[in-house]
Amino acid sequence: MAIKKITTSTLQRMKTSGEKISMLTAYDFSFARIFDNAGVDILLVGDSASNVMAGNETTLPITLDQMIYHAQCVMKGVNRSFVVVDLPFGSYQSNSEIALASSIRIMKETGAHAIKLEGGEEVAESIKKIVSAGIPVMGHLGLTPQSINKFGSYTVRAKEDVEAEKLKRDTKIIEEAGCFSVVLEKIPALLAKEVTESVHIPTIGIGAGKYCDGQVLVMHDMLGINSEFKPRFIRKYLELETLISGAAKEYIADVKRNDFPSDGESY
Ligand code: KIV
Repeated sequence: MAIKKITTSTLQRMKTSGEKISMLTAYDFSFARIFDNAGVDILLVGDSASNVMAGNETTLPITLDQMIYHAQCVMKGVNRSFVVVDLPFGSYQSNSEIALASSIRIMKETGAHAIKLEGGEEVAESIKKIVSAGIPVMGHLGLTPQSINKFGSYTVRAKEDVEAEKLKRDTKIIEEAGCFSVVLEKIPALLAKEVTESVHIPTIGIGAGKYCDGQVLVMHDMLGINSEFKPRFIRKYLELETLISGAAKEYIADVKRNDFPSDGESY
């Protein structure tokens, strides 16, 4: 039977019917294949690749070429999921022409289905331009990691009225500019509820409570690949660091006592 691929219309219908949207990050073929087969609705090739794949402290250093490489790897593992690729820092902030050129490169060179960018009113012109070229755009508001040097910390955003009002205004602005969906990162649950109820497009939360239309987690966080990283919004479904470390130690011990390979594992 033909696989029913997820599209922006599917996601819109899910909001309307109340079916929650699942989204996970992926950066390579192997994990994208597993998540796609498991039925994850959206795979995000996040610029968090800068942190979890490249070991940088922030998302700022990752380049457009590097994002394209990760997205190409992910697309090879995907049959059904809707794939969104982050525009990295520096590839869209200058003006809407540059934002469109970066988005076109992603769509042409990877075969992904949409791009994501951070910000509100200040990126509205770029969103309009990218959408008018036929490229679906996901917004990202609240904690926007590409602006870490402006904010100085990764703490919860929009707790005060002024920032909350700005976030509500920005959500409306980017919806009107043409975004098909928006990520809300690390904001109070009741604010995310209000925003979710006030827009027609699906909201995807990360540290934004249960009232969003969907949820996203960074795959390394939900798989427990870094056991030291434990902010309260993460649910760990595996303790992979412990499991992988245990497996590596067993392998080392087997090699050291010449127990691997056995005769049955040899030619
Ligand atoms: O880059 C990323 O992983 C993200 C998610 C945190 C939403 O933008």
